[in-house]
Amino acid sequence: MEARPQLGMARACYGVLVHGRGKHCLLHACARHRRQHGTVATRARTSPKGSRRQAAATYLSHSARGFTSESKASMGTRVGIIGAGSVGSTLGRRLLASNRFAVKYGTRDPSSERVAALLASQPSAAADTIPAVVEWAEVVILATPSWEPSKAREQIQRLAGSLGGGIKGKVLIDVINGLSGWPALSLSWDGGPSTSEILQETLPNTAVFKAFSTVGVEQLGAPDGSLINGQQLTMLLAGGPPDRRHEAEAVVAGVGFAPKYVGPIRYTRNLDAIAELWIHLSIPGAGETPEAWGRNFHFQVIEKAST
Ligand SMILES: NC(=O)c1ccc[n+]([C@@H]2O[C@H](COP(=O)([O-])OP(=O)(O)OC[C@H]3O[C@@H](n4cnc5c(N)ncnc54)[C@H](OP(=O)(O)O)[C@@H]3O)[C@@H](O)[C@H]2O)c1
Repeated sequence: MEARPQLGMARACYGVLVHGRGKHCLLHACARHRRQHGTVATRARTSPKGSRRQAAATYLSHSARGFTSESKASMGTRVGIIGAGSVGSTLGRRLLASNRFAVKYGTRDPSSERVAALLASQPSAAADTIPAVVEWAEVVILATPSWEPSKAREQIQRLAGSLGGGIKGKVLIDVINGLSGWPALSLSWDGGPSTSEILQETLPNTAVFKAFSTVGVEQLGAPDGSLINGQQLTMLLAGGPPDRRHEAEAVVAGVGFAPKYVGPIRYTRNLDAIAELWIHLSIPGAGETPEAWGRNFHFQVIEKAST
């Protein structure tokens, strides 16, 4: 039987935290999600007095479609996305739009209404159990919740175990930001290790990279910079052995970003530091900075054009 990770979580959607502060339009981020994903509606859930509110995305449509045959699934590089949430579904939508990738979502409940609605909005995608999708995929994206850094090792090891034997030899792109509680929202970049380093330790025969973690989900859905100034956005990635780097870069490019590789797995901590800075600047009250930049900004690599 599949081992199911029990991750402590739920501050994964940074828009939810903005909701939680209660100082801004409560549906700010999720309204964007709705525009991006089509049939998504939102509801606010209020936790006990004194704690922050959270919002949950509820997918309304009940019609589900997936691959009708493996011939569809064989159109392009096979990408398995573990975690069919806000980030996972955004990356999947972008990869499908490129027409160079086949996408399957690895989810804890492939027959849920939420997954059915996602597949209705992405008819060429499919969904299955987590180990089945990992087995099928050539590249796996891990877009599952964040958790308290103090529990990270145990929870990431459990998550790694839930991927099954099919992960051996594959490229795994880790998108997780392991955040501490509100209001610190810190990532363990200074003391390390990063979630990617723990994954690499746990899965020594897998090529672990980190990407897509240094910016909010709206920008993941608009890599052409259309939410900012129209400039093509770069995406930092790190990790993996050099001979697998092109596979991770192809997925980053498939989503629509200009990939900028920064170095081996140790540099995933640097990406975590950038992710923490993005989160603190975008969420009023997070961390120690008084700055509040909103969500339409990006840390961009700018180089002199080659002649
Ligand atoms: N939101 C952002 O702006 C943003 C940007 C960059 C990076 N990130 C990072 O990306 C990750 C995903 O964020 P998100 O906003 O997409 O979160 P999300 O909307 O909550 O989606 C996470 C998905 O992970 C799956 N999941 C939940 N609990 C799980 C568990 N115990 N074991 C395995 N899978 C589980 C769920 O999919 P199923 O129910 O289908 O299994 C869920 O939909 C987080 O680590 C976050 O820090 C977020």
